[in-house]
Amino acid sequence: MNILLAGGAGYIGSHTCVELIEAGHSVVIADNFSNSCPEAVRRVEELTGAKIPLYEADVCDSAAVEKIFSENKLDAVIHFAGLKAVGESVEKPLLYYRNNIDSTLTLLEVMRKFGVRNFIFSSSATVYGTPKEVPLVETMPTGTPTNPYGWTKLMMEQILTDTAHADPEMSIVILRYFNPIGAHKSGRIGEDPNGIPNNLMPYITQVAAGRLPQLGVFGDDYPTHDGTGVRDYIHVVDLAKGHVKAIEYSGGHKGVEIVNLGTGTGYSVLDIVKAFEKVNNLKIPYVIKPRRPGDIAECYANADKAERVLGWKAEKNLEDMCFDSWNWQSHNLNGYK
Ligand code: NAD
Ligand code: UD1
Repeated sequence: MNILLAGGAGYIGSHTCVELIEAGHSVVIADNFSNSCPEAVRRVEELTGAKIPLYEADVCDSAAVEKIFSENKLDAVIHFAGLKAVGESVEKPLLYYRNNIDSTLTLLEVMRKFGVRNFIFSSSATVYGTPKEVPLVETMPTGTPTNPYGWTKLMMEQILTDTAHADPEMSIVILRYFNPIGAHKSGRIGEDPNGIPNNLMPYITQVAAGRLPQLGVFGDDYPTHDGTGVRDYIHVVDLAKGHVKAIEYSGGHKGVEIVNLGTGTGYSVLDIVKAFEKVNNLKIPYVIKPRRPGDIAECYANADKAERVLGWKAEKNLEDMCFDSWNWQSHNLNGYK
């Protein structure tokens, strides 16, 4: 298939691009580089040997998106183009609602105009809110997000569900990601956050690189095996392969399908720190800090549906994730810069 990757220069998009090309698909990327840079796409080209049509475009801009559709014969769209910083979304809610929702509406409208009916969407486990029980199953009710970022994901899931119901020819696959970490094994592409990272693994790798003095562990009094928060960390290459399966599934599917992409296993913050230290033979200094507002104790997936419906299962383990995260950071101390 020929697939438009909206936000394809970002962390998950760039890894998905590699896996799609290796699986024999063609891709076109549209990105406004608000949280990425063209160098990531150049490196994907270097890894795959493919020439990737790249448009610097805001996918909220209908004219720019129509131009892309008119210049390329597209079969499907994968929509990664979102703003994702939880704290920033609390400070700038309108920016988040405008960018995340407008981009989705624009892509769907232009797809309808051009008769493209396959859409894969980057959602998040955040839509489950504070889980009543774990593991999380897709049929469980969604919760109340604690921030505008989470609300945009929940609202977009509703918009997509309504869109699929209104057009029986459409296939929409909503992928609820758990916690992607790791990087391509080459160390050429990886996660490159702007400023001080919010998420755990990029914070750890920047401590390891000497860019930050120590890790703050947000709370050690949760009802978990060691008191620190438990999450379902998934290798970004496994996640990327989940998109290849979702694209191939969408070819023979109509309607809306919601699928968790996680491993089904939860690890605590200290499990991650210890595994990272062991695999990379490094010390990560840390201090226990108060709980971070909005955090939950435990969040991990029931990943059965992905295996049953998409034929996908995560293959990499925690050691791979820790090794590849550091392999990327240590070879790119300042990210792509
Ligand atoms: P990222 O910031 O690395 O990638 C998003 C890309 O979209 C960036 O390249 C950015 O420049 C681009 N973009 C944003 N708005 C745009 C617009 N209006 N027009 C064109 N390009 C635009 O983030 P990521 O980690 O790769 O995440 C991809 C998607 O997955 C996002 O929607 C995110 O909310 C979702 N998600 C991420 C995680 C995670 O932990 N990384 C977890 C759950 C869901
Ligand atoms: C966060 C977002 C979530 C978003 C996801 C991907 C919040 C509350 N949730 O998920 O909406 O979809 O990122 O962008 O922000 N931790 C530390 N020290 C740190 C950083 C994190 O102890 O410096 C802990 C956290 O308390 C948590 C775990 O590490 O227990 C994972 O945190 P993080 O990587 O930020 O992911 P989530 O909070 O799960």
